[in-house]
Amino acid sequence: MALVTVIEHPLVQHKLTLMRQVNTSTAKFRTLLKEVGMLLAYEVTRDLPLKLTEIQTPLTTMQAPMLAADKKLVLVPIMRAGQGLLDGMLELMPSARVGHIGLYRDPTTHGVVEYYVKLPHDIEQREVLVIDPMLATGNSAIAAVERLKESHPQQIKFICLLAAPEGIAAFHDHHPDVPLYTAAIDQGLDEQAYIIPGMGDAGDRLYGTK
Ligand code: URA
Repeated sequence: MALVTVIEHPLVQHKLTLMRQVNTSTAKFRTLLKEVGMLLAYEVTRDLPLKLTEIQTPLTTMQAPMLAADKKLVLVPIMRAGQGLLDGMLELMPSARVGHIGLYRDPTTHGVVEYYVKLPHDIEQREVLVIDPMLATGNSAIAAVERLKESHPQQIKFICLLAAPEGIAAFHDHHPDVPLYTAAIDQGLDEQAYIIPGMGDAGDRLYGTK
């Protein structure tokens, strides 16, 4: 399980526990997902390069670190639950570009079907953070990253909140070069591919559709 980072920050873990609880309301779940998005963004951008820039303080000039302009980011939520993590990440990184990938599981073939893709035109010069709260079977994540690789971004990272060991293994088989970040690795999947203990359907809990 190389390239898997579990983000164990106490604030992330506390908020994740609140999100897991069945009685957490839709409004609260949405707020927590946004807050966790911010905290995950903070953790996964630790390696962004800095460049010294001359600035003027009220007292003097100095060489101060700023984000190097050559490492630009694209956030790509997998619709629809990925959208919930996006809001918090954008609050921390307002200049990041946003792409979208829409995928659904065909009920007959169980294959992943792409129904929407919109990516920034200059993605080749950017690092992509693919975001989806749940890595269950890994099928959507694998398909999304496959699609993104066709656009040749500089780097891809995959960020989720909860991962099943089955999903991590499948993802790693297909994309051993893509680092994966998660706040927790749960026990496994049930017969309907829900993560156990998990938090239920993240999209339904985010939008109150069930
Ligand atoms: N997607 C979800 O939203 N929840 C799961 O448990 C698995 C996949």
